[in-house]
Amino acid sequence: PLPIARTVEALRATVRDWKRHGFTVGFVPTMGALHEGHLTLVREAGRRADKVVASVFVNPTQFAAHEDLGTYPRREAQDATLLAGAGCDLLFAPTVDQMYPEGFVTAVSVGGPSQGLETDFRPHFFGGVAVVVAKLLNQVQADVAVFGEKDYQQLMVVTRMARDLDIPTRIVGSPTERDGHGLALSSRNAYLSEDELAIARRLNGVLAEAAIKAADKRPLAAVERDAYAEILKAGFQRVDYVAVRRADDLATFPNGVVDGPARILVAAWLGKTRLIDNMPV
Ligand code: PAJ
Repeated sequence: PLPIARTVEALRATVRDWKRHGFTVGFVPTMGALHEGHLTLVREAGRRADKVVASVFVNPTQFAAHEDLGTYPRREAQDATLLAGAGCDLLFAPTVDQMYPEGFVTAVSVGGPSQGLETDFRPHFFGGVAVVVAKLLNQVQADVAVFGEKDYQQLMVVTRMARDLDIPTRIVGSPTERDGHGLALSSRNAYLSEDELAIARRLNGVLAEAAIKAADKRPLAAVERDAYAEILKAGFQRVDYVAVRRADDLATFPNGVVDGPARILVAAWLGKTRLIDNMPV
């Protein structure tokens, strides 16, 4: 069975031992309820390093009071089995007390790519992600950490933070894993009813069509407006945003048309479930 470290001390003892033997270390942070998307990150880490650590920690600081912290799926035994099958060598599963002991007061605030998009609707989110990822990267001290493009803005925020804070772990992105209908795999897909699942599977097509128009140098205001309407027409109840941004820093295109590497990003609601997705333009 997969070894599990519950404390930073236990984690560091194993990693120290690996490094003494000359092994490189890869790291994949997660919140558990693992699916094939997470496992592709673990395999990618395994290609890039000799040993792989995965963390499972449902991070309370990135959930707002009204969000799904309490009901977020937790299934550690199954996660451990899946991780072992994907080539993971150690599961780091700290308690909330271990990560945020009494007296914890430090914040990490990232500007730039964290502005807008998710932050307009979940203002607490990247503060929570930045602090936990900074801690995890410092705890594991991996050579490389792999994040999914599924959470593209998160990948940009973490990349920027690691660069700005001189965190020596290399941050690497890995493409979004989708089901046979193009729906991006997500732990939150488990919340969807059969009907909602059918609607969710249309999102990818709307994005792909908008991406083609954007790449065609159509005015982005119109591309985004049309995509917004199409997502509602597909059956989503509400669209938080659908936006074409510069791929590297997520800034808007000043001329209102794509004139460099771009990404289209979306967040939309199906009942009580909020789905996000994105793709290159
Ligand atoms: P979580 O949602 O569990 O995702 C963990 C990692 O898996 C992230 O890097 C995410 O982008 C990636 N991922 C999720 N679905 C994916 C898919 N379909 N294809 C490829 N990669 C996918 O993201 C978080 O946890 C947290 O914010 C965390 C970074 C762990 C900090 O708490």
